[in-house]
Amino acid sequence: MIDFSGKVLLLTGANGAIGRAIARLFHRYGAACVLSDLDEEGMESFARELDPGGVRALALRQDAAQAGDAERVIEATVTRFGRVDALVTAAGLYRERLVSEMSEAEWRQSIAINLDGVFHSCRAAIPYLSEDGAIVNIASMAGHRGSYAHAHYAAAKGGTLSLTRSLALELAPRIRVNAVSPGLIEGPMVQPLIARKPELIPNTPMRRLGTADEVAGVVAFLCSDLARFVTGETIHVNGGLHIAS
Ligand SMILES: NC(=O)c1ccc[n+]([C@@H]2O[C@H](COP(=O)([O-])OP(=O)(O)OC[C@H]3O[C@@H](n4cnc5c(N)ncnc54)[C@H](O)[C@@H]3O)[C@@H](O)[C@H]2O)c1
Repeated sequence: MIDFSGKVLLLTGANGAIGRAIARLFHRYGAACVLSDLDEEGMESFARELDPGGVRALALRQDAAQAGDAERVIEATVTRFGRVDALVTAAGLYRERLVSEMSEAEWRQSIAINLDGVFHSCRAAIPYLSEDGAIVNIASMAGHRGSYAHAHYAAAKGGTLSLTRSLALELAPRIRVNAVSPGLIEGPMVQPLIARKPELIPNTPMRRLGTADEVAGVVAFLCSDLARFVTGETIHVNGGLHIAS
């Protein structure tokens, strides 16, 4: 149903649980995938697994906190594949820290990765994204509700949601800009939270954690022609937890 043949995806945080699922799905739908992450070795190994011939996958190191890295990665994308049709920002840092115990440097680092990083990648991609291009920013349920011991993260994700809507206004009608807000998704990021609050799973109407594939499907929908009249929106992927608690 979705065909990304001839399209090029640029994905940040691509070596994470959700990033890898997005990369696999876009690759399966025919896209060339530029995969960037702070973890260069992990990224290269995943890219080899995804596309052993290296025909439709390129792994690059990118520190989301660095504006210069975002510029370098978009230029490398266009040099290698000649275009970019979709930007998905999935790089993220989720650290448990009460505000009262958080240092200035930790606060800055979280905002630099989780919010500034989205700005850097979006700004760098704007001149290059094709007509009818799409940006999808991975936000979080925390950005809507706040999150105990993750105020820095919730603040950055709330900022990402607002940045997404504002950018949608600036870039229409050429580029659509949307966000996806995952709830609790299987993977290393949520393990400490589930260990501390196991009741979150029975409190979720769907009675389970989500999977990275379930987030990836929504990202693909938003980047596809099926969502051609959708911009400035956020789709929640949380099994109903947001409305239930
Ligand atoms: N897993 C969840 O339950 C959940 C819930 C809500 C939102 N999210 C969001 O989804 C996105 C992906 O999360 P995930 O579950 O795949 O987490 P993950 O920890 O598996 O992946 C995060 C990726 O970001 C990379 N990263 C960290 N710092 C970076 C930096 N400075 N520059 C570039 N890359 C960096 C990591 O190397 C990792 O590959 C994140 O933005 C996260 O905030 C996840």
